[in-house]
Amino acid sequence: MTDLYHLAYVSDVMLETSDQEPAQAHLDGQLREILDTAKRNNRETDVTGALLFSGSHFAQVLEGSESAINDRFRAISQDTRHHNVTPLLYEPAGERQFKGWSMALCMPEDLESLPALVRSKPSPGSVEASDLGKGLIASLAAAIGRRANSRV
Ligand SMILES: Cc1cc2nc3c(=O)[nH]c(=O)nc-3n(C[C@H](O)[C@H](O)[C@H](O)COP(=O)(O)O)c2cc1C
Repeated sequence: MTDLYHLAYVSDVMLETSDQEPAQAHLDGQLREILDTAKRNNRETDVTGALLFSGSHFAQVLEGSESAINDRFRAISQDTRHHNVTPLLYEPAGERQFKGWSMALCMPEDLESLPALVRSKPSPGSVEASDLGKGLIASLAAAIGRRANSRV
């Protein structure tokens, strides 16, 4: 049996504010730092995934071995650059949806519709949370599939 898990969560952004467009304001700053660290660590531990940055929320999907996902999520959930880290889904996965992406960055304009999860926070472990997690994975995977090249 393969040891492949995926995890999805949503959180509230705690980056320094700026009056510029959120994406532009952060892409050279704190968001870039987060992505650079994420990509470096994920590559080393064979974790793949995608990060949605809406300006006010992060929503992230991680996929990899159970131990790698647990290690990464432990670090991520203690990071002060976001808070209210709310797990949506954590379960064995059939196959990777983000193969080749150590961490893909998605913006709301990349998605056909912004997942409901950035509007209403479900309780962790609920059916609603799990459905939102699955919906997030599908939306981000579709956005990545439409993209020819990496944004960052
Ligand atoms: C929204 C968000 C997403 C993150 N995603 C990842 C990730 O996918 N992988 C990772 O290793 N660190 C990620 N980080 C960074 C971790 O919280 C933490 O800073 C990092 O793992 C520490 O790595 P270092 O010990 O190499 O500095 C993320 C942080 C934030 C705020």
